[in-house]
Amino acid sequence: MSDAQTVKILGIVGSLRSGSFNAATLRAAQELAPAGMTIEAFDIAPIPLYNEDVRQQGFPAPVEQLRARIKAADGLLFVSPEYNYSVPGVLKNAIDWASRPPEQPFDGKPIALMGASGGALGTARAQYHLRQCFVFLNGLIMNRPEVMIGGASSKFDADGKLTDQTTRDFITAHLTAFKGWVLRLR
Ligand SMILES: Cc1cc2nc3c(=O)[nH]c(=O)nc-3n(C[C@H](O)[C@H](O)[C@H](O)COP(=O)(O)O)c2cc1C
Repeated sequence: MSDAQTVKILGIVGSLRSGSFNAATLRAAQELAPAGMTIEAFDIAPIPLYNEDVRQQGFPAPVEQLRARIKAADGLLFVSPEYNYSVPGVLKNAIDWASRPPEQPFDGKPIALMGASGGALGTARAQYHLRQCFVFLNGLIMNRPEVMIGGASSKFDADGKLTDQTTRDFITAHLTAFKGWVLRLR
């Protein structure tokens, strides 16, 4: 955990694609984070598919790292696409691994959600499925403001920079509110 002045956020992207709009959104969030907030990224690509037989032998190293980083963070920022109206399997898989006992690391953890998609609804359905998972895990997801970036291909340039000023303003407002949410729950 951080000192009283700063909040340390762990960002997790639900897409493994090199040109991911969601990875680009996390980079924009890192750029737009308010004073007193740091956002580090965790790459879920090395996490294997969940297998209870494997867990019985001990958490694989990438899962141990994820669980440790979650525990050390003051809050989590999930930035994910929507796949088939729900949470992409790679992200659900990472959450499933990290959630296993002992010391379930999401319990009481402040969480913020963002997402970018090609569709008009900007990952709304995936975000509400994520909220449902975190009811069981007692992750404390901030209710609002929400960041749902629809029509993503028109809002980023060829280098993956978020160019849409309205969306940048939404992200800034969201992160400012999230800092307040983390401090309120501390
Ligand atoms: C398997 C799959 C399912 C998808 N389902 C949806 C969907 O339900 N809603 C939506 O808006 N876009 C959907 N898309 C399109 C994604 O929004 C789009 O590919 C987006 O760029 C993925 O995020 P990324 O750029 O971070 O990889 C789907 C894409 C894939 C590959």
